[in-house]
Amino acid sequence: MRKPLIAGNWKLHKTLSESRALAAGLADNLSDVTDVDILVAPVFTAISTVVDALQGSPIAVAAQNCYPQQTGAYTGEVSPLLLQDAGCSAVIIGHSERRQLLNETNTLINQKVRTCLDAGLTPILCIGETLEQRNNDEMLEVLADQVTGGLIDLTPEQIQRVVIAYEPVWAIGTGVTATDDQAQDAHSFIRGMIQGLSNQEIAAGCRILYGGSVKPDNVDGLLAQDDIDGALVGGASLKVEDFIRIVHFKR
Ligand code: 13P
Repeated sequence: MRKPLIAGNWKLHKTLSESRALAAGLADNLSDVTDVDILVAPVFTAISTVVDALQGSPIAVAAQNCYPQQTGAYTGEVSPLLLQDAGCSAVIIGHSERRQLLNETNTLINQKVRTCLDAGLTPILCIGETLEQRNNDEMLEVLADQVTGGLIDLTPEQIQRVVIAYEPVWAIGTGVTATDDQAQDAHSFIRGMIQGLSNQEIAAGCRILYGGSVKPDNVDGLLAQDDIDGALVGGASLKVEDFIRIVHFKR
């Protein structure tokens, strides 16, 4: 059985005081949730504040990025080791916004995944096709390339510790969600890819999240799909009420 994971990606939003208030609002309302893992990813500068605000709650904290080295002469970067030290348990890696805006490649993303694993953090590896790629029937090829590229040379035991987030680029921040069937088809394909890179048991245990305009009114249908094990939520994770409703998706 895969335990669902609902993760909030706060992206470049929220000041320190706003982050503290959002985290406190979630802690107040989600303290008794035990059947779903919950995680939020604030901006770097708010990580310590949010970790403090979530003390004693079941909500974990993730970073939105990391550098693929633990320490050294890398001005301006933050390593998995330091994120772990700051109280993070996971890192979002290879988000499409970073692939597009900062030209992150599969090679760099794979290095980040490994560095996270070395620091004992859970990598949340983001993959997803653009609308153009989907319309050109390149979706499966793109997903295969991103899964393989992100996980290349990892042992099955390492792959077991990775969470995958399927986020079709055309559904991010657009209000257009993949249909339940579109998402399920992609997730099933991704699980098959994981099996090819590890084995049946590890693929069956791997959590694959859906991301892209997940909202209170569409989460139930998405999470009811066989291969959808949770959600990576952007906009709706910034509102206490919406995120709570998403965590309480229909079981
Ligand atoms: P939205 O939920 O705002 O579409 O963002 C999804 C996302 O990019 C999460 O990482």
